[in-house]
Amino acid sequence: ALPKQGFFKKAWKYTKITSALAVVGATGVLVWKVYDESHPANQVKQVPAFEDGQKKKTLVILGSGWGSISLLKNLDTTLYNVVVVSPRNYFLFTPLLPSCPTGTVELRSIIEPVRSITRRSPGEVIYLEAEATDIDPVNHTVTIKQSTTVHSGHSGKDTSSAKSTVADYTGVEEISTSLSYDYLVVGVGAQPSTFGIPGVAEHSTFLKEVSDSVTIRKRLMDVIEAANILPKGDSERKRLLSIVVCGGGPTGVEVAGELQDYIDQDLSKWMPEVAGELKVTLVEALPNVLNMFNAKLVEYTKEVFAETNIILKTNTMVKQVNDKNVIASHKNKDGSTETIEIPYGLLIWATGNAPRDITRTLISKIDEQKNARRGLLVDERLLLDGTNNIYALGDCTFTKYAPTAQVAFQEGIFLAKHFSKLHDIESLKYTLANPKATDNTDRLTKKLAKLEEKLPIFQYNHQGSLAYIGSERAVADLVWGDWSNVTSGGTITYLFWRSAYIYMCLSVKNQILVCLDWVKVSMFGRDCSKE
Ligand code: FAD
Ligand code: NAI
Repeated sequence: ALPKQGFFKKAWKYTKITSALAVVGATGVLVWKVYDESHPANQVKQVPAFEDGQKKKTLVILGSGWGSISLLKNLDTTLYNVVVVSPRNYFLFTPLLPSCPTGTVELRSIIEPVRSITRRSPGEVIYLEAEATDIDPVNHTVTIKQSTTVHSGHSGKDTSSAKSTVADYTGVEEISTSLSYDYLVVGVGAQPSTFGIPGVAEHSTFLKEVSDSVTIRKRLMDVIEAANILPKGDSERKRLLSIVVCGGGPTGVEVAGELQDYIDQDLSKWMPEVAGELKVTLVEALPNVLNMFNAKLVEYTKEVFAETNIILKTNTMVKQVNDKNVIASHKNKDGSTETIEIPYGLLIWATGNAPRDITRTLISKIDEQKNARRGLLVDERLLLDGTNNIYALGDCTFTKYAPTAQVAFQEGIFLAKHFSKLHDIESLKYTLANPKATDNTDRLTKKLAKLEEKLPIFQYNHQGSLAYIGSERAVADLVWGDWSNVTSGGTITYLFWRSAYIYMCLSVKNQILVCLDWVKVSMFGRDCSKE
């Protein structure tokens, strides 16, 4: 028999109550998070030793990117004297960086100051805005250098300070000093690769840092305005209105998509005559773009590019760049090759990663690293081969995993847990070396052996890949557990891409700002002002 009408009334009433409670609960959580973010907690101070006399070890973390910040956020900072050294005093949410040059997302919405993270950790964390220039794995020291335009009162002009130097008289002062560490974590990331191709470093812009986004924006507006004063049909106007993106990995594809969106959705309103002539060309050495994605999604991306007029030049390897042309070798279908020239006004170079100088320096100092070409070699607990107190994570390492934020983030969480376990081991060793009458040393020795034996190894959990391909469409290769692999592309995937990236943002503040940016762009569009 069907339930009486009263049943539905009751169900409806309970649904309303539950929904209201859920909304109140969610609002409460949000308010608490916002409050928590703006009120740093009291912290346990850094001290040379714990109350029982055991030395409190110094953990120096290099970098403020995905790996280092994930480690910092998950670390029990009361267990170590933690010092973070990075020339960048903020964390950058790189997945949304391709949206910044055109103004889809504001740069300030995707950065989080390091100090807002260090001030909120349970133990005091010292942050030093500086770059590591040398690491001495034998004496356990790191040399750090700060370049500043502000006189700090600690300049190299003071000859009594042997460690300080003034680099030059350009107004930039360099302050050098060194730090001792008990444990060092290297999370310095990578730099854009140029493969030594002539002209690339001089003439192209990369997309790795905030400053790159600003440069692209400025250059884009420059070429648009410069082309605008030239007559139609002029070859220089045509060159200026050619944007070339080199590298069909996710960075190249995403930035090409964002630029084409800007041309179609906004520039076409403000400067239709220029927008119609502005061309985006994506150059890729291999037969396909987005090689890490499923073949169906690669085809889908090609279709979307064809539809949105992004010119795709695959099988085209750039060999040289001059101030006006990209010179490439194009492989034809019959296997023959020809040299082609693509004139450009703006060239964006996105061909992957190369090790930073500090990574190369460290490699050169450790025998076990002599075969490391593409990054530091680490074991399954991220301990650097050939050392017993240096760890490395993220893009500065060479492992079986792709250099992604997802990997670096999970490695950071792993290392945070690892350092907790290392502390437990050190404490037990200290107790055994300094036993009290009441201590059962046999039991403690067994416990120590068990802890050492059971130290977990890093296991990466791949959750899939996502990329924005322009015109409000995205591609996703998702993995749910061991049993399911979902491949999708289109507008729904785009909404999923947006939700996933909002979820991944580091702070509630960033989440709110990014959402507001999207709302703002959907209401008012993106402008064409030079900043
Ligand atoms: P980084 O995040 O690069 O951080 C390195 C840190 O080290 C920085 O703070 C830097 O200032 C600091 N540093 C540099 N030199 C020194 C030095 N000498 N001493 C001390 N500190 C130093 N991955 C994804 O999984 N999903 C994505 O959607 C995605 N999108 C991306 C979009 C773009 C445009 C780019 C460029 C990358 C993207 N990635 C993405 C890749 C991802 O950003 C990297 O894999 C990730 O940043 C690696 O983290 P990391 O901590 O190793 O290095
Ligand atoms: P990439 O290494 O993924 O791709 C670089 C591309 O440039 C390759 O396809 C390569 O064949 C091509 N290339 C190299 N030399 C060339 C030349 N001379 N001429 C023409 N093409 C050339 O680099 P990318 O996109 O910078 O990404 C770096 C890392 O960051 C990757 O691990 C990537 O997965 C990750 N990332 C992930 C994103 C996402 O998941 N949405 C977004 C951006 C980056």
